[in-house]
Amino acid sequence: MMPFPVSVCGFSLRDTSLRVFIFNPAALRSIQEVRRSLPIFPYRDDLLAAIHEHQVLVIEGETGSGKTTQIPQYLLEDGYTKGGMKIGCTQPRRVAAMSVAARVAEEMSVKLGNEVGYSIRFEDCTSERTVLKYMTDGMLLREFLTEPDLASYSVVIIDEAHERTLHTDILFGLIKDIARFRPDLKVLVASATLDTERFSCFFDDAPVFRIPGRRFPVDIFYTKAPEADYLDACVVSVLQIHVTQPPGDILVFLTGQEEIEACCEMLQERCRRLGSKIAELLVLPIYANLPSDMQAKIFTPTPPGARKVVVATNIAETSLTIDGIIYVIDPGFCKQKSYNARTGMESLIVTPCSRASANQRAGRAGRVAAGKCFRLYTAWAFKHEMEETTIPEIQRTNLGNVVLLLKSLGINDLIHFDFMDPPPHETLVLALEQLYALGALNHLGELTKLGRRMAELPVDPMLSKMVLASEQYKCSEEVLTIAAMLSVNNSIFYRPKDKVVGGYSTQWCYENFIQFRSMRRARDVRDQLEGLMDRIEVEMVSCDGDNIPIRKAVTAGYFYHTARLSKGGYKTVKHQQTVYVHPNSSLFEEQPRWLIYHELVFTTKEFMRQVLLGFVWIFPLKKRAAAFWTI
Ligand code: CDP
Ligand code: MG
Repeated sequence: MMPFPVSVCGFSLRDTSLRVFIFNPAALRSIQEVRRSLPIFPYRDDLLAAIHEHQVLVIEGETGSGKTTQIPQYLLEDGYTKGGMKIGCTQPRRVAAMSVAARVAEEMSVKLGNEVGYSIRFEDCTSERTVLKYMTDGMLLREFLTEPDLASYSVVIIDEAHERTLHTDILFGLIKDIARFRPDLKVLVASATLDTERFSCFFDDAPVFRIPGRRFPVDIFYTKAPEADYLDACVVSVLQIHVTQPPGDILVFLTGQEEIEACCEMLQERCRRLGSKIAELLVLPIYANLPSDMQAKIFTPTPPGARKVVVATNIAETSLTIDGIIYVIDPGFCKQKSYNARTGMESLIVTPCSRASANQRAGRAGRVAAGKCFRLYTAWAFKHEMEETTIPEIQRTNLGNVVLLLKSLGINDLIHFDFMDPPPHETLVLALEQLYALGALNHLGELTKLGRRMAELPVDPMLSKMVLASEQYKCSEEVLTIAAMLSVNNSIFYRPKDKVVGGYSTQWCYENFIQFRSMRRARDVRDQLEGLMDRIEVEMVSCDGDNIPIRKAVTAGYFYHTARLSKGGYKTVKHQQTVYVHPNSSLFEEQPRWLIYHELVFTTKEFMRQVLLGFVWIFPLKKRAAAFWTI
């Protein structure tokens, strides 16, 4: 069943004969008026009564109805924060945690970080006064380490439950368990209109509270033939809408930062060429690694006469609501983690999204007025090539991190853990085997002293092992820098499109296209890690220019990720799988005999990302990084 009224047509990208309607831009209203106008508002008292009556409540409501921003405020108004008790609300995504916290702080006229705050990995924007705490699901999971019964919380809201991230799924099991001996704890499971019966069933038939949504009809258009280049098709569609369609903003769904940046550049370039022939088009990207000041821009109202186009990852599917969207462009893809439980290989792959996702995306067009969704695939593909729903992350990811965490919470019998959907047996076994190889578990599967210390660091087991090994090799200063750099993903490097050249050196890159913001973030991450090092009593020492100890520490953590040069590429040592150095890597031409990589990413081939242990990488990083940290 479609979640909103639709009509379905075929379209070509040059089609200009689309239905025309009048769009009234929302008049400027006070923030309190906006609050009262949300679909959830008429149900405020009924909702509070239901929460009062039941310990666990599943709340289902259309995206944008006000669940995330309003429910914590209602609870606060109803006295749930008396005596300094906290209301926690989890989000699968960092960006969402930050932006909803900022929004709620604004609605309550308080400074972000005081009464309302957020906590995401490596960034804690809360204080003693914080009573409404937005956080990533991963952060709440870590709070179990210091507070196993979540005693300081009166309410825990597991929000965006339908996303079924690994951390959310683990939280379900843990919270269901503590709710039994904390009858005063209220548990709310909030979800878009998907899967709510399953949540109810998992929580012993908890009642479902439904917030009826207000939605306008969305016309859905499919392409008549498959699109060869969906990026280009997106750009053409945006311009087509901009030139031929009545006012209303556009939302485009792409799969990741690189694609989004490329699309934004192409759009800006074409608008520049068209100049004053077309109305102003504001092009705004949104993805997880985007700096927060840039993220905030997507929420600013569009000036009269202009049109806004937001180019987003599936973060805009349900986590964020951008007002004023009338047109959605959906190429039908998303980036998904996939995991081979036999080889332990994890890759990020661009795959067709599910029908449920596609319908959520389309629904974003019908929030403020009747809208249109342009699907850049055929109606046949929608029916026959897409899965019904997305497979929960727990079934397609490496579980090393979570197993280590559960072990340190004293949960030894993982086979009988209360999973909503259990992970594949081989994946669990592989995680145990890896933790054993790293020395985090003993032969009985019990946590070792090393394992306990590793669990204190909010990073993957291989990375935490590397950091802890630096103690032995007396190079913690340098290794922490490497750990921090690896933790900010690939975004240190910025590649302006016109400056792309093959095989440039690390130094050239450093002098030209390093993103300052990412470096600043890496430095913040490093500071945080340094604080944790203090807690687990690892002394900070430098190996003063000798890179051998660094290589040893890296190898102690990443021996699973060793590859050896062989004909045409590299072969991994453990599984003899063929992998490649990415042409963008400074080691692409060098081709050393042995490599250690951080992760594998599948784009056109299996590429090793962040290849370590070559001289070219270690030398400049150490010197340059040392210079940077003193800024
Ligand atoms: O959680 P749910 O999808 O039900 O809605 P919400 O995130 O609470 O959003 C309710 C309304 O708050 C949206 O319609 C937006 O207008 C507004 N909002 C905003 O302006 N800025 C944000 N960062 C988040 C929400
Ligand atoms: Mg929400």
